[in-house]
Amino acid sequence: MRNTAVSTALFERAQKLFPGGVNSPVRAFQAVGGTPVFLARGQGARVWDVDGNSYLDFLGSWGPLILGHADPDVVAAIAAAARDGTSFGASTEREVLLGEAIRDAMPSMQRMRFVSSGTEATMSALRVARGHTGRIRFIKIEGGYHGHADALLAAAGSGVATLGLPGSAGVTAGAVQDTIIVPFNDEAAMEAAFAANQIAAVIIEPIPANMGLVSPGPGYLRSVRQMCDRYNALLIFDEVISGFRVGRGGAQAIFGVRPDLTCLGKIVGGGLPLGVYGGQRTVMSEVAPEGPVYQAGTLSGNPLAMAAGLAVLRKLDQAAYSRLDALGQRLEAGIRAALAATGVAAQFHRAGSAFTLFFCAEPVTDFASAKRADTGRYARFFHEMLDRGIYLPPAQLEAGFISLAHQDGDIDAFVAASREALATIR
Ligand SMILES: Cc1ncc(COP(=O)(O)O)c(C=O)c1O
Repeated sequence: MRNTAVSTALFERAQKLFPGGVNSPVRAFQAVGGTPVFLARGQGARVWDVDGNSYLDFLGSWGPLILGHADPDVVAAIAAAARDGTSFGASTEREVLLGEAIRDAMPSMQRMRFVSSGTEATMSALRVARGHTGRIRFIKIEGGYHGHADALLAAAGSGVATLGLPGSAGVTAGAVQDTIIVPFNDEAAMEAAFAANQIAAVIIEPIPANMGLVSPGPGYLRSVRQMCDRYNALLIFDEVISGFRVGRGGAQAIFGVRPDLTCLGKIVGGGLPLGVYGGQRTVMSEVAPEGPVYQAGTLSGNPLAMAAGLAVLRKLDQAAYSRLDALGQRLEAGIRAALAATGVAAQFHRAGSAFTLFFCAEPVTDFASAKRADTGRYARFFHEMLDRGIYLPPAQLEAGFISLAHQDGDIDAFVAASREALATIR
């Protein structure tokens, strides 16, 4: 058995300080039970907890750590930036460099704004879309998660779904009355929502990752684009997870669908707090001081986050994505073999280096089907894996991530552990 004495003691102290003992809900392990692991250190593909146990990390801080922990180039870039001063509240060259790097990778982002989290990025993009179109209502996907801004906390995925919350207390009916919810992969429902409402925008994760990882059906994103065009609404891709994860150009490059606005976070900040929203030149001209849509931030464009993001993006070339996909394929083949060998009914979904193992027999295409997954079984799987030194997302309806720090042997260790874990929970 793992020693958990120090984590347990810290959790007791943390519960006196923080709601649920945590600073973000899903960290509390409520969906899987048990005491959260307090982490002390990470290096490459591995993390160590305060009790000295080590784990191969397949959570990757919920997505940002595509190079793994404490990549030497990222650490050096952050240190160099810190020596130059940690914040100015004024423009710096690093903002221009990172902005150019993002625009080169994602040409739809002609102009952009740096903020400090994915939540700020989506909240601001929505404000811009409303300002630009003069319309109020917008379409959101059931089980899509776009951070915790009020209007976006209707029928949300991730922790909202995991904790079984209908949305959130404290969000007024007024704040969500203009949020129109439709299921993913359902063109007819979206068409009906457009027909019945004046819609400013559709906000969508092109590859949803907060109801577990789900793929868009053939032609779905293209048809969402066409509906937005027909009804003069903006298309907002929330690529906070998929951006720089599934490829340098994000999901929009893979599916060949150009959104009007894109939201980024996670990888683009290299593990530091950063979000970005941007898109069409004319739309982004609405943002103050050029236009009437106000949005600002004391720490926006923070030099440390800029430096970390630049250091990460410099390493994400085609070879890096080929390597990540090869690791993903190796994991997929191994897990499928383990499922076949143990006879456990499950769906393995993967997009490059992101994945979810749904414990259900039927295909998962949207939130309703994702919710049919057996969360109790996932909880047992999670703990069996944790005891074997594999750190996974502590909830079924989330995605795991492989990093460039993972080696073939790490993937094989995951597969070997999952064979045992699946046999145990079968
Ligand atoms: C798709 C998506 N959008 C937005 C967010 C919110 O980002 P943040 O947690 O940085 O506020 C998340 C967070 O997980 C996300 O997965």
